[in-house]
Amino acid sequence: MIIVTSNKGKYREYKEILGGHFNLKLMLMRYPEEQLDTIEKVAERSVYYLSGIVNDDFFIDDSGLFIEAFKGFPGVYSSYVNKTLGNEGILRLMEGVSNRTAEFRTCIAYYDGKLNIFTGKVQGTISETARGKNGFGFDPIFIPSGHKLTYAEMALEKKNSLSHRYRAGKAFLKFLTKKAI
Ligand code: IMP
Repeated sequence: MIIVTSNKGKYREYKEILGGHFNLKLMLMRYPEEQLDTIEKVAERSVYYLSGIVNDDFFIDDSGLFIEAFKGFPGVYSSYVNKTLGNEGILRLMEGVSNRTAEFRTCIAYYDGKLNIFTGKVQGTISETARGKNGFGFDPIFIPSGHKLTYAEMALEKKNSLSHRYRAGKAFLKFLTKKAI
């Protein structure tokens, strides 16, 4: 099983989420991500692009942070916003905003001659300050519901036991296990 990504953090997480069941190989590369209106559509386009390049079954992960007070922004623009505003920029935008509800979403798009989509979501809140050193991206500012720690303050195993990526991965695993029977 191949994951195509330029993000080693995602690879590390999938190694744990899927690793016990499948031998996961990393194809470290960037690919075009069109700015469409849902992460599923973005992932679908990228998969069709990559299907002409990768000679084996593979999957990609398209994820995003959706902040309720900003009507879902940054959403499909998460990567650009992470690079430009960063976590400090988001915290500044949220100064004085009382509704700190947010959602992390992952879309796994798996190609085995056909496109298969698996999604996972986790509700949470945006923290008041950036906290923690683990993980990547928005991890220091996202607190999953029912917890006090940000993703970045959790051990990787803990994040992987409850995250949006874990939930999408669980649906993906179920599919792969059925397919293998
Ligand atoms: P991508 O387009 O799926 O690579 O991700 C969009 C943005 O969200 C990137 O800046 C990632 O670093 C960030 N991101 C994706 N997944 C996570 C996560 O699990 N935690 C924190 N940030 C993430």
